[in-house]
Amino acid sequence: MSKIKQRVLSGIRATGHLHLGNYFGAIKGMLALQEDANFETFYMVADAHAITTPYKVEEFRLSRLNVILDYLAVGLDPEKSVLFFQSAVPQHFELAFYLSTLISVAKMQHLPTFKDKVKQHPENVTMALLNYPVLMAADILLYKANQVPVGADQKPHIEVAREIARKCNNLYGTKFPLPNFFNLSGEYVPSLTGEGKMSKTVVGSYINLSDDLKTIEKKVAKIPTDSGKGEIRELEAESDQHQDIVYIDDSGQTSKGVKSLMSLIELFVGQEKRKEYEAEYKKDGLRYAVIKKNLAKLIYEELLPIQERRRELAKRTDYLANIIEDANQKARNVAEQTIAEVKEKFALSIVT
Ligand code: TYM
Repeated sequence: MSKIKQRVLSGIRATGHLHLGNYFGAIKGMLALQEDANFETFYMVADAHAITTPYKVEEFRLSRLNVILDYLAVGLDPEKSVLFFQSAVPQHFELAFYLSTLISVAKMQHLPTFKDKVKQHPENVTMALLNYPVLMAADILLYKANQVPVGADQKPHIEVAREIARKCNNLYGTKFPLPNFFNLSGEYVPSLTGEGKMSKTVVGSYINLSDDLKTIEKKVAKIPTDSGKGEIRELEAESDQHQDIVYIDDSGQTSKGVKSLMSLIELFVGQEKRKEYEAEYKKDGLRYAVIKKNLAKLIYEELLPIQERRRELAKRTDYLANIIEDANQKARNVAEQTIAEVKEKFALSIVT
């Protein structure tokens, strides 16, 4: 008898090119779970989430397709994963409404992700923005997902989904599994500026999966560094998002850029190399120009095959249309079943 597989659901907003933060924070985990026979993987283009912040309609048409192309280029496989569009499955919005009855406005207003968006777009504090985590909970629960591969910034949203699932199960007797945060490595990829995380919305903070070698070299060269020699202090981490290491050079300056550089080195070359560099920092000093050039080369080597596959895939429009239609239908089949169950439990089914 075949074992019942656990479900996995994740998504990436269609808001432009994917960057290394998305790659390490989400995609690496998505790939690992796709290759694990214990899981059934559903990966969507979060196009409805993308329109919760202001966007340009013409660019958006392309961005939606770009996410699918990126998914395929990094190695997500339509034979193994359901690669679909969130907006093609209307049950996401239906379930989001039902679930919105289970969580308070105050809770939503206090989420760090909501507060950040309010700061970024004070003129655009809409109901859709407030409802963002509820729609995300619906995305996850609609597929009864056990694992959600995402970056650390999404942890508060997974918590909301768990709280909603728990309440729904208690109040209505649904059987939603409590979804788990899944991450293998790189749950927090820092910004190239040294301030905060790598983010699509912060200029100069990211390396795109589509960047060429020259662009990567330029971006890595710009990571602010210091004199190359000094001491390293490990502080008590204020949050559970990342370890707080401080690099203080011999003139007493603290460099957050060096921390970003070291994190990228760890991601691309491994923890051992980072440790070696840290030992040199404390002893003879580092030569950043050489280190940065090598790092840029390694990043490019990782991205080149993805870029080549992507170029080939972009030409195969019929193939893309077919796999998308097929995946949307597969997603709708699962979604319909869950909605029927939820409506029954909420006493919203048609009376016969
Ligand atoms: P989005 O598009 O903002 O981010 C996509 C994924 O990339 C991760 N990520 C990072 N990880 C590590 N370091 C970074 N600097 C970094 N920047 C981005 C994010 O954590 C995310 O995993 N709300 C989701 C989209 C979504 C979703 C869902 C995800 C909608 N519904 C249901 C999972 C399940 C988001 O932030 O997308």
